[in-house]
Amino acid sequence: MTRWFAPGRINLIGEHTDYNDGFVLPFALEVGCTATISGRAEDWSARSLQEPDAVVVRRSGLSDAPEVAGWSRYVLGVLWLLTDRGVDVPPLEIVVDSDVPTGAGLSSSAALVCSVVRAVDDHLGLGLDDDAVFALTRDVENDAVGAPTGGMDQLVSLRGRAGHVLLCDMRSHATRSVPLDLAGAGLAVLVVDTRAPHQHSDGEYGARRRGCEEAARQLGVPALRDVAEDDLADALARLHDDELRRYVRHVVTEDARVLEMARLLDADALAEIGPHLSASHASMRDDFRITVPEVDTAVDALHQAGALGARMTGGGFGGCVIGLVPERDVAAAGDVVRRAFADAGFNEPALFTAAPQDGARPA
Ligand code: GLA
Repeated sequence: MTRWFAPGRINLIGEHTDYNDGFVLPFALEVGCTATISGRAEDWSARSLQEPDAVVVRRSGLSDAPEVAGWSRYVLGVLWLLTDRGVDVPPLEIVVDSDVPTGAGLSSSAALVCSVVRAVDDHLGLGLDDDAVFALTRDVENDAVGAPTGGMDQLVSLRGRAGHVLLCDMRSHATRSVPLDLAGAGLAVLVVDTRAPHQHSDGEYGARRRGCEEAARQLGVPALRDVAEDDLADALARLHDDELRRYVRHVVTEDARVLEMARLLDADALAEIGPHLSASHASMRDDFRITVPEVDTAVDALHQAGALGARMTGGGFGGCVIGLVPERDVAAAGDVVRRAFADAGFNEPALFTAAPQDGARPA
């Protein structure tokens, strides 16, 4: 029996920069998924303690089965891809158990796939190195599940470190832990799960990604990461589509904000990052246009409550907002957010604080 845990994540800053080969600064959460593998099975089966039915794939064929849907594609997708790559995968029973809320933008899917890949690698003694493990987790989401995501979530779920955010270069996939000593600064990251219904998020995500790739093509660069902030005005002048111009402005300024925040954190200036968080939110709201009223209301309420900065985190169109709040004001800030949601007639939000934890590990 082999058992691995992998966490969900919060992204401190760097949204929709990962698939533009840019920079992100996420951290791993306490909540996550545990995958347990045993090898006495006759078939390949996946079971989730949060779902009613197990999914079983008969011995006859371990290849992509279109009828397998939802969470189990992430589990069986690992086995399909390994089989495609020539690994002889013996029958396995995989049981997953997750406490990451789904649909909240906290990467329940990265926790799932990373726990399974680590457990399978360990159980079968494949000896995959860190880069191969990451590539497999990303391929499962992109190829087996078919979600055109950028890899940030899996990278931090695998490599996060307690007390640190993970500065990731999403072109080279080089990562570096940067200290985020919230308690030392008397600060907290207050998370507001807006519980806004996710609407059209898949289609809108893909549309943003295609728009960014089209803008890079028109600008003649491999990816928007290659547009320097100093050259932004020139790049914008060369684009004729207002939508593409807004996308480019968001991505280029967001990459710059990530690097500036990492610099501030390295310089032990945590209390100074607030304005960058808020500028990131304004850029997502006005330029990238991926926020919804619940999210903007939460950010405004956090500002009113004295947050140093606040922004939506994750892919957008719902999900969570984070506020950097003095520790002593956390309860009062939560009340302000709850009142604002009640006044607007929104669902009641869920509130909790989060601090960086370790990434995937044996459990
Ligand atoms: C989702 C995707 C990530 C990333 C974010 C936006 O979480 O899975 O790859 O693109 O959205 O920053």
